[in-house]
Amino acid sequence: MNIPFLDLKIQYNAIKEEIALALHNVLDSTAFAGGPFVEKFEKEFAAFCQSGFAVGVGSGTDALWIALLCLGIGQGDEVITTPNTFIATAEAITFCGAKPVFVDIDEQTYTMNPDLLKGVITTKTKAIIPVHLFGQPADMDPIIKIAQEHGLFVIEDACQAHGAEYKGRSAGSIGHAGCFSFYPGKNLGAYGEAGAVVTNSAELAEKIKRFRDHGQAKKYFHSMIGWNARMDGFQGAVLSVKLKHLPAWNEARRENAKHYNELFADVNKVKTPVEDSFAQHVYHIYAIRTKNRDALMRALAGKNIFCGIHYPIPLHLQEAYRSLGYGPGTFPVAEKCAAEFLSLPMFPELTGDQIKAVVEKIKYFFTK
Ligand SMILES: Cc1ncc(COP(=O)(O)O)c(C=O)c1O
Repeated sequence: MNIPFLDLKIQYNAIKEEIALALHNVLDSTAFAGGPFVEKFEKEFAAFCQSGFAVGVGSGTDALWIALLCLGIGQGDEVITTPNTFIATAEAITFCGAKPVFVDIDEQTYTMNPDLLKGVITTKTKAIIPVHLFGQPADMDPIIKIAQEHGLFVIEDACQAHGAEYKGRSAGSIGHAGCFSFYPGKNLGAYGEAGAVVTNSAELAEKIKRFRDHGQAKKYFHSMIGWNARMDGFQGAVLSVKLKHLPAWNEARRENAKHYNELFADVNKVKTPVEDSFAQHVYHIYAIRTKNRDALMRALAGKNIFCGIHYPIPLHLQEAYRSLGYGPGTFPVAEKCAAEFLSLPMFPELTGDQIKAVVEKIKYFFTK
């Protein structure tokens, strides 16, 4: 049995006709850059996220960078986030001219440990970016409380958490802004690059809309220096189609996670993901932890079962961020998890038989 880490084709085949019609409508109207299909998706996505506004941009990286810029983060500022995330979270901070400051993650949930925040807040701190890693929201209440006490912005990196919930509230809708990626492999994935910022601030939404379109509210009248970060029409149309299916796809991911958890119940060498009581996890990634990660991953690949690692090197130990001056041992939980994480095949269409086969091979590996 060949079990891929992710299979986008099955999902495409199931919605092929809807997608063809949506793409055809874009072609017919020639609304290629921004335009009505993007605006329609923005309204739908804002409602889905229980947020006042959604602004479509070119990618999740754009969303984070532009949200920070439009909140006024810049040279000399510090922004706190976690080292166990995709590098885009930190790049967005760096490309505003600000400095990423890391705090360690919680060993159970793998999201920002709020108890560590106060220890790194300085007079230069302007914002906090909790990352809803793997599809599980960070513990937002204490983060928001600390941010309020210190007058800081909270920008949620919800790039892996479309439809996830924190105490019944939609991920991305809790802080000043929530940033989403629609990279094709995400729970809500475009057929190309795309992203969005959601916010309840009409002022911030307007500023982001203007910024992503060269700072113009009217063609060739530029009230600010902006950038070209528009979402394209095809992506808006595809995302509108796919958004309708997202609740069912997220539910299927949750069922698959439950199935994995049940089958792993008697395997003590594997630590399965913990869904916090405050969270509705959407399992963008189903990451187990095991001490024999690399050997296990090789053995599974030998049986045509393909896994991933998210992420093998925490950001503070990446060459790109050496200049920040963090050394090994600075964030022990992030480092331990990075050495043990193994992301198993996870997508809505994964079958029960495939899940059983993955778990059987893992059990066999540990009994050999
Ligand atoms: C946590 C996180 N932040 C940011 C991004 C960046 O999104 P994009 O790839 O759409 O630029 C991603 C996507 O991979 C992500 O997983």
